[in-house]
Amino acid sequence: MDSTLRPELFDFHGVMMTHYFTDNWNNYQNFQARPDDILIATYPKAGTTWVSYILDLLYFDQTSTARKTSTPIYERVPFLEFAVPGLETGKDLADGLSTSPRLIKTHLPVQFIPKSFWDQNCRIVYVARNAKDNMVSFFHFDRMNNIQPESGEWSSFFQRFLEGKMVFGSWHDHVNGWWKKKETYSNLHYMFFEDLVEDTEGEIAKLCSFLGLSPSTEEVETLSSSVQFDNMKKDKMANYSTLPVMDQKISPFMRKGKVGDWKNHFTVAQNEAFDEDYKKKTTDPTLKFRTEV
Ligand code: A3P
Repeated sequence: MDSTLRPELFDFHGVMMTHYFTDNWNNYQNFQARPDDILIATYPKAGTTWVSYILDLLYFDQTSTARKTSTPIYERVPFLEFAVPGLETGKDLADGLSTSPRLIKTHLPVQFIPKSFWDQNCRIVYVARNAKDNMVSFFHFDRMNNIQPESGEWSSFFQRFLEGKMVFGSWHDHVNGWWKKKETYSNLHYMFFEDLVEDTEGEIAKLCSFLGLSPSTEEVETLSSSVQFDNMKKDKMANYSTLPVMDQKISPFMRKGKVGDWKNHFTVAQNEAFDEDYKKKTTDPTLKFRTEV
């Protein structure tokens, strides 16, 4: 495992980023979206892979066996801004998709989204996760993923998260920026990781209604069961075990998939500091998160 890949964070137009997601900036800013493209947007570790997989199965489950057995999720749903030497860029993968619709993933904050997605009025699915669990998941991810900055110890990671010094910037800015966008852009479906854990079928039904799909109750039940954590964890095409930059011996990509794991990480003092900081940064009372279900 090549730990020399570990990048530094730097300020990019006011957002902390690493070069893996800015090197291809000019190219992906010129991405030509099509009206039926569907963008899956999230802050990292909010449930991107889960929702990508749900969408992929909704559209293409019946299409081909090869897709199911030998095409990993990160190729089925390219990560638009991804540019790591030796691997195909997300932009090229997206350009090369022959499906309709094309499913495309991004972690970009709303102000960085390439213009053509707005011009084409593409459907966008945004997934948000409560900040405490999001932070914990991000910590374990940075431990195991060699193209992420070093996680450092939990206590310093905790502090850095509060300061918004994470790849793709501050959690608050991200979830709020996208929430605000809903006011002016109606083709945006904003969903929550916690709801998906609590009621997968109900959330799939809402998603389908947004997408204009009308699967039978039975189809929704079947889909819901195939995307449960234990099934996705076993599935090599969903669990990232084929991506060499991750060391899953340190921490598996499909780690726990729970709401409330923050309780196993936060000390009492950290929880108090977090809550105080959170109150200060919460500007919109209409955006509400649950830290337990
Ligand atoms: P944990 O680290 O808390 O387990 P992303 O895809 O945005 O990187 O998010 C990864 C997080 O989503 C991980 O959280 C992962 O376990 C969780 N996840 C992925 N698939 C899931 C599923 N089917 N059910 C519940 N959680 C899932």
